[in-house]
Amino acid sequence: MDGLREQSLAAIAAATDLAALDAVDAALFGKNGSVLQLVKGVSSLPKEQRPAAGKAANELKVALQAALEARRTALREQVLAADLLAPDFDPTEPGPALPRGTLHPITIVQDELVDLFSAMGFSWQDGPEIETEFFNFDALNIPPEHPARDSMDTFWLQGGHLLRTHTSPVQVRTMLRFPPPLKVIVPGRVFRQETVDASHEHTFYQMEGLVVDRGVSVANLIHTMKTCLQQILRRELQVRLRPGFFPFVEPGFELDVNCPFCSGKGCSVCKHSGWIEILPCGMVHPNVLRAGGLDPEEWTGFAFGMGLQRVVMLRYGIHDIRLFMGGDLRFLRQFDTL
Ligand code: DAH
Repeated sequence: MDGLREQSLAAIAAATDLAALDAVDAALFGKNGSVLQLVKGVSSLPKEQRPAAGKAANELKVALQAALEARRTALREQVLAADLLAPDFDPTEPGPALPRGTLHPITIVQDELVDLFSAMGFSWQDGPEIETEFFNFDALNIPPEHPARDSMDTFWLQGGHLLRTHTSPVQVRTMLRFPPPLKVIVPGRVFRQETVDASHEHTFYQMEGLVVDRGVSVANLIHTMKTCLQQILRRELQVRLRPGFFPFVEPGFELDVNCPFCSGKGCSVCKHSGWIEILPCGMVHPNVLRAGGLDPEEWTGFAFGMGLQRVVMLRYGIHDIRLFMGGDLRFLRQFDTL
């Protein structure tokens, strides 16, 4: 065994490059390597010799492995030192580029909207994605049996809970939490049991807005929405209001902008009307103010519910909502703003 030790240590020391060292490694520890043979041989020895022989074989194995490792490190250092001295080595050359992610287009637009609204004095509120029936419906003036419940195909959970179908429940949550005047936006993810197609997703993003103060008017609503939409869509816009029905606002509106694709002349995107429906909004219904603990004789407000995907689609000219959650990196990498 001592002979094998001497011989092997000499072979390891004599290896002058990594390939030679690998060959020595294979000769010792490979399938028919001499050290492995030695370890295996222990079991065929007479029983009383086995413990001592096993211990010695194991020590030899550990020692040779350590010698191999030390030699390998030394040889690698030699290779590195030689590379560094090579005449064509250029320490100023940049290393391989690290792959870098990009922001999702919804995140980009959401961040911009949050900045815009913050500059107008709004603060950001969050609410739970798992909501109660009370905040998602009842507190918003949508009692059980109200037809508006049918228009929001809800994912129901156990115990009267649900996946929120809109960000509007955070309106009443906010009123109950903070004293007026209020100016908040609520960006968030919402869920509906929709059949997915080019313009419907089961999971999408909204940004709710709520302003509560004394003497708030429709003019305040129009001005706020116009300012924000012009900045996010990066063009001068005209806006118009059409009546729209939502139980939590009275009056309720659909806010349209002149079509950015044809400047109002009429095209397939605006279905030749020259206008694009962009967000529903209205004056907060007295019952909603009451649910939030506020006296509708004293307080007034407006609210809006922006579909973020819709704004992103208009801004970038995207025609299929499925792209947002499809996970196709070729799509996502086009929005590199970092
Ligand atoms: N929550 C409504 C929805 O998801 C959108 C909405 C309409 C929000 C009118 C509002 C509003 O704040 O005033 O369909």
